[in-house]
Formats: sequence, structure tokens, C-alpha cells
Amino acid sequence: MRMTISRLKEMKTSGEKIPMITAYDYTSARLSENAGIPIILVGDSLGQVVLGYDSTIPVTMDDILHHLRAVVRGTGKAHIVADMPFMSYQSDPKEAIRNAGRLIKEGGAQSIKVEGGQHITDTVKYIVDVGIPVMGHIGLTPQAINQLSGYSVQGKTPETAEKLISDAFALEQAGTYAIVLELVPDELAKEITGSLSIPTIGIGAGNNCDGQVQVFHDLLGLFTDFVPKHVRRYANLANIIKSGIDEYISDVQNGTL
Ligand code: KIV
Repeated sequence: MRMTISRLKEMKTSGEKIPMITAYDYTSARLSENAGIPIILVGDSLGQVVLGYDSTIPVTMDDILHHLRAVVRGTGKAHIVADMPFMSYQSDPKEAIRNAGRLIKEGGAQSIKVEGGQHITDTVKYIVDVGIPVMGHIGLTPQAINQLSGYSVQGKTPETAEKLISDAFALEQAGTYAIVLELVPDELAKEITGSLSIPTIGIGAGNNCDGQVQVFHDLLGLFTDFVPKHVRRYANLANIIKSGIDEYISDVQNGTL
């Protein structure tokens, strides 16, 4: 039995923090689940850390479906959330329902995630009404990177903070079961977390959220092109891999293998 959204909501109520991680393939998903991660996101961050794009914008439904299926095959207990890629839900609610349905039916996800606040609540309601759980995502929304001035903290002025609070309430009202708060000031994340009955999952939003999410490659030091400021590294796999491969090369060159 996989982790359910009602159990995730209970974790908020009981004050048990929710550790969430991204994964994009069978092996990383299996390792994460075996370590005890209850919820895995097949994020469109795969555009950068797996496919080598410079943003999440080019990621397609087929990309997410391909990686999602591998993650689902690698797990049996974790709840799998699939990101809706850019322009798979923004233009037409019917298309949004169809694409969300594909991630559940063809990909095997248990829920989907969309970016945005009040402007997407109608779409969220439609998706929730057909029986698909939706996770929200506000603050820094990487799919809007061309409109934002870089990957910077959001909600720093009273007006933008107020807007984020209204967005969070609107998403809760629309039926989201949890909301990612990305790059939001600690105090604002604390206020939103305390005002909602659904869990907040922070990334660069302080330690008062109900859970935290990090990109697998950032957390474990696999992706070295750039390191977001909020990342705490728990391993340096890039160095470990390099020395392993160096040793392999010299064994081949020396004829000892
Ligand atoms: O795509 C992703 O990895 C995400 C997380 C950073 C929340 O949306």
C-alpha cells in the first residue's frame, strides 16, 4: 500500500515532518524509498539535472511520463507525485484534465503538481473533481522564470507577501492536498503553514514548513553546474564517482583489469 494523501495530512496534524525528494529513474527512486522517503516528486527539474536544459520550460509530457514510469517501477510504498510540465495545463482546463489523467493512468502517479496561485484555481478544481489529487506550488515557480527576475526569493514586500497568502488560501479552497512553498521568506512560510489545514512542503522556505523537498542531484552532490543557496549537501557523489572512474581508467590502462 502506497502512502496516502490522508496520511500526509495526518502527519501535519500530528507535527510529524514530511521528507520529500525528487527522483527521475528506477534506481534513485528505489534508493530513496528504501531510505524511508514517503513521498517522491518526479519533478520537471529533470529538464536541468537529467536532460541538460537550462530551465524546466522545454520539458514535455512524454519526458515526464517516461521518467515517471521508471520511478513507479522502482517503488511500492512511496506516494508518487508527477509534475505537470509547462503548457500542459495553463491554456485549457479540459486539456489539463486530460494530461493529469495521463500521468495517473499511463504513468502510474498517485497525484500531480501544478505551479501557480489564484489564476489556476479553476483548473485545480476541475482536476480534483475528476478524482485526481493536486499538489500546488507557489513562491518561485520555475515555469514562469522568463517573467521573474531570476531564481530569487519571492514575497519580500508586504504586497507580494499578501498575494502569496491569498494564493495559498485559494489553492486550499480549490482542493489541493498540499502546497510547495519555494524560495519564500521563513516568516511568511511559517505564517502560511500555520494558517492552512493542508501540509506545506518547503524548498528554500525555512524550517517551519510541514515538510521539505529537495532535488535528488542537489542533495547528494551529483549536479555541479550550479548549487542553489538553500541546498544542504549530504554527500558529494560527483567526487566519489570521479575517483571511482579514475581508478577504473588506470586499471584498464595498466592492464590490471
Ligand atoms: O521540479 C521540481 O523538482 C520541483 C521541486 C523543486 C519542488 O518542482
